[in-house]
This record gives sequence, structure tokens and C-alpha cells, in this order.
Amino acid sequence: MVSIADVAEVPRVSNVTGTLRVPGDKSVSHRYAMLASVAIGTTRLQGYLPGADCLATLDCLEALGVSVIRIPGVHGLTLEIEGRGPRGLRTPGRPLDAANSGTSMRLLAGLVAGHPFITTLTGDESLSRRPMRRIIEPLTTMGASVDSDGGRPPLTIAGGDLHAIAHTPPVPSAQVKSAVLLAGLHAAGVTSVHERVPTRDHTERAVEAFGGRIVRDGDAVSLAGGQRLSAIHATVPGDISSAAFWLALAAGTPGASLAIEGVGLNPSRSHLLAVLRRAGADIETREDHAGAGEPSGTIHVRFGSPRSFEIGPDEVPLVIDEIPALAALAVMTGGTSLTVSGAAELRVKETDRISMLASGFRALGADVDEYADGFHISGGPLQGGTADAAGDHRLAMAFAIAAARARGPARIVGAQSVAVSYPGFFDVLQQLSRSGGAR
Ligand code: S3P
Repeated sequence: MVSIADVAEVPRVSNVTGTLRVPGDKSVSHRYAMLASVAIGTTRLQGYLPGADCLATLDCLEALGVSVIRIPGVHGLTLEIEGRGPRGLRTPGRPLDAANSGTSMRLLAGLVAGHPFITTLTGDESLSRRPMRRIIEPLTTMGASVDSDGGRPPLTIAGGDLHAIAHTPPVPSAQVKSAVLLAGLHAAGVTSVHERVPTRDHTERAVEAFGGRIVRDGDAVSLAGGQRLSAIHATVPGDISSAAFWLALAAGTPGASLAIEGVGLNPSRSHLLAVLRRAGADIETREDHAGAGEPSGTIHVRFGSPRSFEIGPDEVPLVIDEIPALAALAVMTGGTSLTVSGAAELRVKETDRISMLASGFRALGADVDEYADGFHISGGPLQGGTADAAGDHRLAMAFAIAAARARGPARIVGAQSVAVSYPGFFDVLQQLSRSGGAR
């Protein structure tokens, strides 16, 4: 059942100019908090994402005996996390609820696997459907015992004395790589992960920022177990995956000129910018900060000459979270399309993001062909209508930006899901709408 408040009327946006900031990076927030919990000393983080996923990580860490002080601010949460040192987490007195967050569940599984106690990790309905064998298998090989519901949550992990492994994830996944590396921190020997296709490297950078040592050699990344990490003071950069919605909206709105400041520019996340350029957007970046190993700066996007574009298998892991925003771009102006292939992973995200993306965009007037591992979308400009985000935050935001450029009225069902990664999303959309024309 969907409550009335969970249906958002989408305001028309016709002018995308000015400067804005986006909330802290979701991936970086999770990693800093988790590493802080096993570091020595008190970590102070600014700009921590106050989204539901990252709050779930904090709740889980508190259940593991970690003291977390939260100070709300305009640019996210400031946190003080009391590190408990290597293998210092405590037996949790309750199951850990990862809510909607795959990153919380998979990375925490790696972190607790090296601790000599039993942890149960649960999640919401969506997370309970997501595949976990990809982490169960390597963690079991390292010496943990993991019970699951046929490879899905809940997970019950009996951790203990782990030994290092060399692992090649069956699918490109930063979450799997990170789970193994976090387990490796508490394992005997040198753990390595081989990646056929590179994925985001925030865990590697964060381990180094906390004073740990990472070795990169070709397609492998390795770390030795038993390293002592030291607390840091750091600011989480803005999330480029959240910025993606405004970048796509600007790229699809004639006359647009928008600057996004303080946003993460880690090369393993910024491939989106290359795809946007291919789609005809005019993009400039200026790096002005590199705290705790994560470069950040300003992205300036201007409307250019929209073109049809494609995303192929090798690129998918580098833009996996931005594909919904890019699909929206493809149907903002008329005469352009997007073809995505090699993206079967989208079917095991917060929703089946191929099928739900297809039905939502069709409801707004787009033409979408669905394939087993991708889709083709065209048919803009959209007419408007009612799109159901099916509780998926990134689909809600993708439908909203496309609908903001539609000819007729549009609404999004399941709009509250944006709180997972971008609680203020609809406020920013309203602000952009007020600075432009009415529908
Ligand atoms: C994430 C990795 C990606 C991404 C997710 C966050 C991370 O998942 O889709 O939103 O923080 O490591 P996979 O690694 O499973 O592809």
C-alpha cells in the first residue's frame, strides 16, 4: 500500500542554472564509518550522508559496541566515532538491520567475519531478495561460517580466525571486493582480489587514508591481515551518483548551465562524465581538494548538442548507479536514444532495475525495449503520467528529472524512497522549478 504522501507531483523545470551541492557520497560514508570502528582513536567525519542506507550502517556499528556521536549540520552529519581497534567489535545483542542497504550488509559481513562471535544481518523486503552467495562463498573459504536463506538474507555469520585468500569475484562488484578486503584486514596472511573489470576503489583509498597499506599489481589489489588502522579527520565529498541527476537534467535542458561544487571526482566513479560528453553535454571539471585520498571539486555542465548514445559491457560497472539518470537524459529532448548492454546486474539492485525502469519510463510516454541484460530507450520528449518507482530511490529520481521536462503533468509513486541516498532531492527540484517557467 502506498500512502498519499508517498506520491510526488513533479514540478516543471525549464531553467537549470546556478550552483548547488549534493549530499555526501554514500559509498565513502559507509567505508569511513566501518574503518573508523576498527581503527585506533576517535575519527571525526564531516559531510557524512544522512541517507537511510548510511544511517543503517551507523545503527549496525552501534549494535557492535561502537560509540557514534552524530551532530546534524547543513552539509550532512558530523560524526565522532570511537574506534575499538583491530578485532575490537563486541558481540551484538540483537540482529543488525541493514534496511535497504546492500553495501551495509555485504561490507559489514566482511568486517564481522574476522570477529569471534555470531552476527545476524537482516534487511528489508528488497534487500532480502538480493543475492549474497557472492560474499558467502569467499567468506566461507576464509574460515567464517555463514548461514543464509538459500543464498539470500538473513545472514548468520559465525566469525573467527580467518586465513587470507586470493579471490576473483564472479561478477564485477565493489561490494564483493570490499567485503573480502575488510575480512582480509583481520585474516592471517595477504588477501588479494583480482578484478577482470575495475570497480570503484573507495575501500582501497580509505584503508590507505586510515594508515593501512594496500598493494596494487595489475588487476589485483592486496592487503596484509593484522594491520593497525589509525583514526582520521576527514570530509566526505559530495556523491557524484546523486549529482548525476542534476547533470543529466542540465544536459537535457536547453540553455542550462549548472555548477556542482564539492563533488567527488574519484576516477573510478567519474566515468559518467565521459558518457555525458558522448551524449552531447558540455562538461568541465576543476579538482580543488584531495582529502583522505578522495579527490573532489566542481563539475560545470552546459546544454550542448544532445545525441543518441550507448553503454557497453565494459563500461557498465563504472556507471552502474547512474544508468537510470542517463536513461532519463535520453528521453528529455526528442530524437535521441540510449542502448545499454551487458548490464544484467541491474536486475539484482534495489529492484529489478531493467524491468522497473522500462515500466516507469513507458508510463511517462517513452518507448522502451527490454533485453535480458539491458534496454533501448527513446521517444522523448515525454508526455507525462504516473510512474511507480517501486520503492527504488534511483528510479524515483530518474523518473522525476525526466518528468520535470515532460509536456504534461507527472507524478511519482514511491517518492519517499529518495531518502535512501538523497533526502533533500525533491526540495532541490522545487528550487530549480521556481527559478524557471511554469508548466
Ligand atoms: C557500491 C557498489 C555498487 C553500487 C552500490 C554501491 C559500493 O554495487 O551499485 O550502489 O558502495 O561498493 P556492486 O558493487 O554490487 O555492483
